[in-house]
Amino acid sequence: MGNPFVLKRALIEEVVEENENTRRFLLKVDGFSEFKPGQFNMLYVYAQGEVPISISSMRRDLIEHTVRLVGEVTEDLFLLKEGDYIGIRGPYGTHFPVERYEGWDIVLVAGGLGLADIKPVVEYLIERREVYGRVFLLVGAKNPSGLLYKGDYKKWKEGGIELLLTVDKPAEGWSGHVGVVTELFKFVELEPHRTVGMMCGPEVMMYFTTKKLLKLGLSKGNIYLSMERHMKCAVGTCGHCQFGYTFVCKDGPIFSYERIKPIFGVKEL
Ligand SMILES: Cc1cc2nc3c(=O)[nH]c(=O)nc-3n(C[C@H](O)[C@H](O)[C@H](O)COP(=O)(O)OP(=O)(O)OC[C@H]3O[C@@H](n4cnc5c(N)ncnc54)[C@H](O)[C@@H]3O)c2cc1C
Ligand code: FES
Repeated sequence: MGNPFVLKRALIEEVVEENENTRRFLLKVDGFSEFKPGQFNMLYVYAQGEVPISISSMRRDLIEHTVRLVGEVTEDLFLLKEGDYIGIRGPYGTHFPVERYEGWDIVLVAGGLGLADIKPVVEYLIERREVYGRVFLLVGAKNPSGLLYKGDYKKWKEGGIELLLTVDKPAEGWSGHVGVVTELFKFVELEPHRTVGMMCGPEVMMYFTTKKLLKLGLSKGNIYLSMERHMKCAVGTCGHCQFGYTFVCKDGPIFSYERIKPIFGVKEL
């Protein structure tokens, strides 16, 4: 997006309701260039503040962000409509290094809103499907309404993604899997020496997914996690996002498990 340090105007071109507390904002920003899957932007809502939000897609020259209403900034963002403006700077951070794994099988694991960060990886792989092996996408949510992007599943499957869904609590009419996302591994055949794992979701989910992938034989350097911490500057100067010996905004948010093994899962870090 040109100079990532400069705040730009972003026009809210479209707002899509995903569920009762989650919306997709499709933004038009002049001079937008490329981003890599897993990176994030800082979104600024006038007189309220900035929040880091993953880039969940870039299609038709629009930048997509999927936002859950949780606090002050997102509350004010949800008051805005198509035609309103917000500020945006980015893209920031490290990405899921899919380009390094051509020819490999890929297992993507997403919990709840974590699918927002994994979705650009799915789109990247579909566009280059022939240069990768099998691609599994395991998605878990608390309940069926927590499953995001339902309108995209058919397209993803047709694009060669082996999609498996599960919910913690089924609702009426749900005929899919029930249970935590790691239980879906029993339906997946992995060749560990040529498989990379990439995940995003609540830390507890990533903790157990990492354990499972290690048990299945993946190496520490071939497991990637997307970490989340409160941020202010997003460029490595304020220290708000410190996570042990790293800053999530500039050393992450995507880390290999090898890099963060000593600090991952440690309480209060
Ligand atoms: C790299 C990255 C990518 C992200 N991507 C997305 C995304 O795609 N979509 C999305 O919806 N969110 C995403 N988030 C999370 C989002 O940035 C936060 O939820 C953000 O805090 C929301 O801002 P808010 O002002 O609305 O809520 P806040 O007022 O910040 O409150 C959010 C929650 O954090 C708690 N909280 C507030 N301050 C602190 C504190 N200092 N310490 C501990 N807890 C605190 C609050 O109680 C509340 O539960 C991402 C975060 C990171 C770091
Ligand atoms: S948010 Fe300031 S150092 Fe990361």
